[in-house]
Amino acid sequence: MSPDMPHPDQVFELLSTRRSIRKYLPDPVREPLLRRLLEAATWAPSAHNRQPWRFVVIREPEARSSLIEAMEARLIADLRVDQAPEEIILREATHSRRRLTMSPALILVGLSMADMDVYPDPARQSHEHTMAVQSTAMAAQSLMLMAHAEGLATCWLCPPLFCADTVRAALGLPENFEAQCVIALGYPAEERAKTRRRFDEVTLYR
Ligand SMILES: Cc1cc2nc3c(=O)[nH]c(=O)nc-3n(C[C@H](O)[C@H](O)[C@H](O)COP(=O)(O)O)c2cc1C
Repeated sequence: MSPDMPHPDQVFELLSTRRSIRKYLPDPVREPLLRRLLEAATWAPSAHNRQPWRFVVIREPEARSSLIEAMEARLIADLRVDQAPEEIILREATHSRRRLTMSPALILVGLSMADMDVYPDPARQSHEHTMAVQSTAMAAQSLMLMAHAEGLATCWLCPPLFCADTVRAALGLPENFEAQCVIALGYPAEERAKTRRRFDEVTLYR
């Protein structure tokens, strides 16, 4: 093993101690560090090496407000269609707002199908799309692990996936930007324990 590589025990420690954090210190995440995380993310594997991931660093307070307000309005509209009771709507909207304001930094993660293969039939096209999703999730995971190695904390937040058109409009993003999640990022203000099912409960051998 190259002396420059981390010891496998250190890698295992990194992987097993990352937690989704939902309370952050107000300290900002400096720009060079953000850039390092983004660069680390782009070393993820991707289908055909097409690198379908796209990132939006939500830097300006106005951009964050636009995103939060648009997503909240959409959530409320969706819940009204579901005929959810008003107190549930209020609770969900408050929860959504809290999640998107809890961290000093937000990185929206999306994908673009622009460079992926195109198939004439829906089945293969759907698989191609899945491969873009898989590649993008790997990049997001790399970003989160790099953040953890840098002493930062993250939390994957899924709501943008449910309203990709709203997200695109709120931030003026290209038509081919398909939001997957937003990653909350900052210095942790809580510690979280988590259990996992044993790996042999989820593994078959043949
Ligand atoms: C696809 C995906 C969607 C998630 N969505 C949310 C979310 O919307 N809100 C949230 O607080 N956490 C979300 N999480 C974080 C999970 O709740 C978390 O990873 C899980 O509980 C395991 O905890 P750990 O990451 O601390 O080990 C999501 C994670 C993944 C991978």
